[in-house]
Amino acid sequence: MKASNRSFRFILPLGVALVAVACGGGTPESTTPATPATPAAPAAPEAAAPEAAAAATPSYPAGFITSADITLGDKLDEGMITEAKKIFDAKCHVCHSMTDQKVVGPGWKGVINERKPEWIMNMMLHTQWMVENDPDAQALVEETKTVMPDQQLTKEQARAMLELIRSLK
Ligand code: HEC
Repeated sequence: MKASNRSFRFILPLGVALVAVACGGGTPESTTPATPATPAAPAAPEAAAPEAAAAATPSYPAGFITSADITLGDKLDEGMITEAKKIFDAKCHVCHSMTDQKVVGPGWKGVINERKPEWIMNMMLHTQWMVENDPDAQALVEETKTVMPDQQLTKEQARAMLELIRSLK
C-alpha cells in the first residue's frame, strides 16, 4: 500500500495522545486539594462475600457479545465481506492490514485462528472495557503501545468485520 509511511508517522503520535488522554482523565480542576494527610480509615469490609465466585466475575458492559450472539455459517457471507471492506477502507486501514503485517494495530490475517469470534467482536464494540479487563487485549496494547480508539461500529457492522476477518485465515 502506498504512502503507508506517512500515515504511520501521523498516526503514532495520535495513538500516544489518545493513551495520554485515556490515562490523564479524572483530574478535577480543583482549588485546594482536600487530601487528608493520613489515608482515610479502610472502608468496611465488603459484606462478607459468601460465594467466592462473585469477586472473580467482572461486570460486563451492556451489549457485551457472547458466543450465543454469533452464528457462523459454514460458508462465508460475501455480502457481509463486501460491506466490511468498505468499512475497512473508510475506518480501519490506517491502522490495520488484511495481511499479517502490523501497521499501528495487528494485521488481521490469522487472527481468527487465535481468537474467539466473540472476543474479536468485543474488541471492536467494547474496546475500552477490553483493554481495561481482558488480559489478551492488554497484551496487545503492551505490544502496540496504542489503545484503539472507539470505532463507533454498530453490532451489524462489527459482525460484518468479523466475517471479513474470518476470510483471512
Ligand atoms: C488509530 C488506530 C486504529 C484504528 C483506526 C483501528 N484500530 Fe483496531 N486496533 C488498533 C490497535 C493499536 C490494536 C491493538 C489493541 C488495542 O490497542 O486496543 C487494535 C486491535 C484490533 C483488533 C484485535 C486484533 C488482534 O490481533 O487480536 C481488531 C479485531 C480490531 N482492532 C478491529 C478494528 C476495526 C474493525 C477497525 C475499523 C472499524 C479498527 N480496528 C480501527 C488500532 C486501530
